[in-house]
Amino acid sequence: MLKGIIFDLDGVITDTAEYHYLAWKKTAEAIAVPFDREFNEELKGVSRMDSLYKILDHGGIRGQFSDAQVEELAHDKNTYYQELIKEITPNDLLPGIKDFLVECKEAGLQLGLASASKNGPVILDRLEVTNFFDTIVDPGKLKKGKPDPEIFVKAAEQLQLQVRECVGVEDAEAGIQAIKGANMFAVGVGTPDRMKLADWQVGSTAEITLERLKEKLGE
Ligand code: BG6
Ligand code: MG
Repeated sequence: MLKGIIFDLDGVITDTAEYHYLAWKKTAEAIAVPFDREFNEELKGVSRMDSLYKILDHGGIRGQFSDAQVEELAHDKNTYYQELIKEITPNDLLPGIKDFLVECKEAGLQLGLASASKNGPVILDRLEVTNFFDTIVDPGKLKKGKPDPEIFVKAAEQLQLQVRECVGVEDAEAGIQAIKGANMFAVGVGTPDRMKLADWQVGSTAEITLERLKEKLGE
């Protein structure tokens, strides 16, 4: 029986996926690495440092940077990203998300956040939805990032629920793999070709309601 819902943040609750894209594009182009939306898909759900290593590998220039320079690039990207998220307000919640959070809480479901982003808590605050979440996984304490299932397993543990009682919601291919690896039902926000592994693919968050989700779960 459904008892908990575990959400990714960027691209599911709010469109910060676009801000990550803009900040990485600026960082990549500053070091002459070509960057487009297709390649950006590979970074979705991936931690800040791992994303940067992917960019350096993409440009074939990883060996040219010292650890200190890599740290500096990551810092610069985050500074730019934080500029972009400064103006976030509750109006930036993706369509239907607020209603879905409200109906989940009214139905007594436990809600968790499983985001790789260290900026997650401040973004939830700016969106004014922190109180809906019963738990937030600290991405700094994880051994492995998405697509490893650890973050979703940890969220279920923190909610004191079994994985089979939880559903995960994601917009990244790595995130869907993580949810499936955790043996949870996966809701995928995105195009059918990218959300192939999802149990329920939706084109927009506006399509996600508790009634439809329960239908999909056969409850
Ligand atoms: C994920 C995003 O949620 O968080 C990634 O999908 C991002 O694009 C990652 O790199 C880490 O975010 P942050 O805010 O800690 O740099
Ligand atoms: Mg995401």
